[in-house]
Amino acid sequence: MITPAKTPILGTEEAIERLRSTVHAKAKNFYAVYSSILGGIVTDPALMVLPLDDHMVHRGHGVFDTATLANGMLYQLDQHLQRLLGSAEMARIPLPYPPEKLRQIIIETAAASGRRDASVRYWLSAGPGGFGLGPAECVGSAFYVVVFGAEFYPASYYTEGVKVVTSTVPIKPPFFARVKSTNYLPNVLVVLEAKDRGADNGIFIDERGMIAESSNMNVAFVTKNRVFRHPPFDAILSGITIQRMLQLARQLVERGELGAVRIADISVAEGRDAQEMLLVGSSIKVAPVVEWDGKPIGDGRPGPVAKKLLELWYEDVQNATDQLVAVPYPEA
Ligand SMILES: Cc1ncc(COP(=O)(O)O)c(C=O)c1O
Repeated sequence: MITPAKTPILGTEEAIERLRSTVHAKAKNFYAVYSSILGGIVTDPALMVLPLDDHMVHRGHGVFDTATLANGMLYQLDQHLQRLLGSAEMARIPLPYPPEKLRQIIIETAAASGRRDASVRYWLSAGPGGFGLGPAECVGSAFYVVVFGAEFYPASYYTEGVKVVTSTVPIKPPFFARVKSTNYLPNVLVVLEAKDRGADNGIFIDERGMIAESSNMNVAFVTKNRVFRHPPFDAILSGITIQRMLQLARQLVERGELGAVRIADISVAEGRDAQEMLLVGSSIKVAPVVEWDGKPIGDGRPGPVAKKLLELWYEDVQNATDQLVAVPYPEA
């Protein structure tokens, strides 16, 4: 007996109609998308789609970065763009346009979103052209930008602190940790494992027993003798936020609020003995860790350096003109 087909075969009009009717509720947080495939910007979420034959989709041959849009300004756009270009070079993805044009497209997509506060994420991809492995078949590399409303971390992260666990997920080898590619499977698994264990996030430890980083954020410490500590950047992602916080922490040293800033390997034992532990990144900003593997860090409460650096982050986003790029919104 032949079973009647249950999977409809859709015509073009019907498929487009379904793209429209199946837009989910959360897509209201997607404000604008640029696609080099379309050669322009769309604001209808139904059209925010990628070709399945793009090698970023089926081979993970793509790199990305994210900048924060705050008060109508793109914060540290050039640093994030520079890291994107570095990632593309490591992933051997040729640029579809010169860097100035990529920058212009990001700024214009932010403007088209009409939003003054959002996240702006962009990808360079090997591009579409088939389902093979090597990019030789690709018709040309692709560039995509999305402006979206990110979900915020709970306020308790900052007022009560964050709980972390040591992850059992294998850490990426140094080369893959340094390139911000779309292969974030270990990063996703580290969060899922932490949640399973009743914590908020996980910490990657390298094979030498040294502290590396967290899911999509860096990990810093303040020792009992007031030294701001961070691991070297040769086997982890060089976070734009921590790089800025290291500059600001040096100002705290000049003002006598910290003893020193030191970048060197940090063993798990040293980390557990710290006065403060901090998670730092574009999405979390600066959050205090109060518990690691069920044991308190310092006195088990958010510490003053985490608080101070978070304040400095907010000040930076408001006032640091050398870190801000104005978005040219159309006249209202
Ligand atoms: C693995 C990883 N480490 C660290 C960071 C922090 O980097 P940034 O401060 O540029 O967001 C991120 C986020 O991009 C990340 O994905």
